Amino acid sequence: MLKGPIGVFDSGYGGLTVLKAITTKLPEYDYVYLGDNARAPYGNRSFDTVYQYTLQCVKWFFKQGCPLVILACNTASAKALRTIQQNDLPHIDPQKRVLGVIRPTSEIIGRFTKTGHVGIVGTTGTIQSQSYPIEIKKFFPDCNVYQQACPMWVPLVENKEFDNPGADFFIKKDIQQLLDQSNQIDTLLLACTHYPLLINSIKKFVPPSTAIIAQGDIVAESLEDYLLRHPAIENSCSKTGRLQFNTTDNTVDFNEKAAFFYGQPVQSEYVIL
Ligand code: DGL
Repeated sequence: MLKGPIGVFDSGYGGLTVLKAITTKLPEYDYVYLGDNARAPYGNRSFDTVYQYTLQCVKWFFKQGCPLVILACNTASAKALRTIQQNDLPHIDPQKRVLGVIRPTSEIIGRFTKTGHVGIVGTTGTIQSQSYPIEIKKFFPDCNVYQQACPMWVPLVENKEFDNPGADFFIKKDIQQLLDQSNQIDTLLLACTHYPLLINSIKKFVPPSTAIIAQGDIVAESLEDYLLRHPAIENSCSKTGRLQFNTTDNTVDFNEKAAFFYGQPVQSEYVIL
C-alpha cells in the first residue's frame, strides 16, 4: 500500500480541537483535515443523513490516499461509524481503517469517577443514539451514566458567544438538568468536539471537585496506542509532518474560525465531494 496522510474528519470546526491534540502528540505524521461546513451542523440530523454525509467524506479521504481516517466528531461516530466499519469498508477497501471518538473515551472514562456516576453532555444526535451508555457499560459495568442533550451549545461556540452571559444561561440550564438526574455525578464528559471552548462557563455550574473531561488528549493517546498495535497501518501512514486543511464551504470563513479552534493560523482549500 502506498503511504498517505491520516485523515481527520468533522462536520465543521470542532474536530480541530481533536486534531490539535493529535498533531501535538504525534507531529511526525501527515494529516488531512476535512470540515463538512457546507452541511454542518450534523447534531440534529437523522441517522441516515449523518451516515450518508459521513460516508461521502470518508470516500473523499480515501481518494486522498489516507490509509486511516479518524471521525473526530461525536455525532458521526455515534451515527455512522459502525455501519461504515461493518458494511462499507469491506467493499470499499478492507485494508483501510476508520476510527471514532466514542470507544477510546468510553474505555477510560470510568477511571476518573470515584462515585461511579458519570455525566455526559453532547448533541441531540449523540445523546439519542445511546452510544455512550452502551459503550461505557462494556468497560465499566458498574458505572451509572446520565446524559443531557445541549443543542444550543454548538451554535454558541460557532457564533463566538461562549464567554458571554447568554451562553451562561443555556449552559446553566442544561447542566442543572443533568445534575438533577443524580447528585453524585463527579465526572462530566464533554462528548462534543465544540464543548472544550465552553469550559470556563461550564466550570461555573458544576461542583468544583467535578472532573471535566475533554476528548482531544484521550483520542490522541488512543491513536498513538492504535498505531503501536497495528504496525501495518502505521507503516502506511506517511511521515513528513505535513498538515492540510479542507472545507466544503467558504475558505475565508473557515480560515478565520478554524484558527480559533486550532489555536494557530490556518489556510484551507475548498473541496467538492
Ligand atoms: N462535531 C459535532 C460533535 O462532536 C458537533 C457539531 C455538529 O453538530 O455538527 O458532535
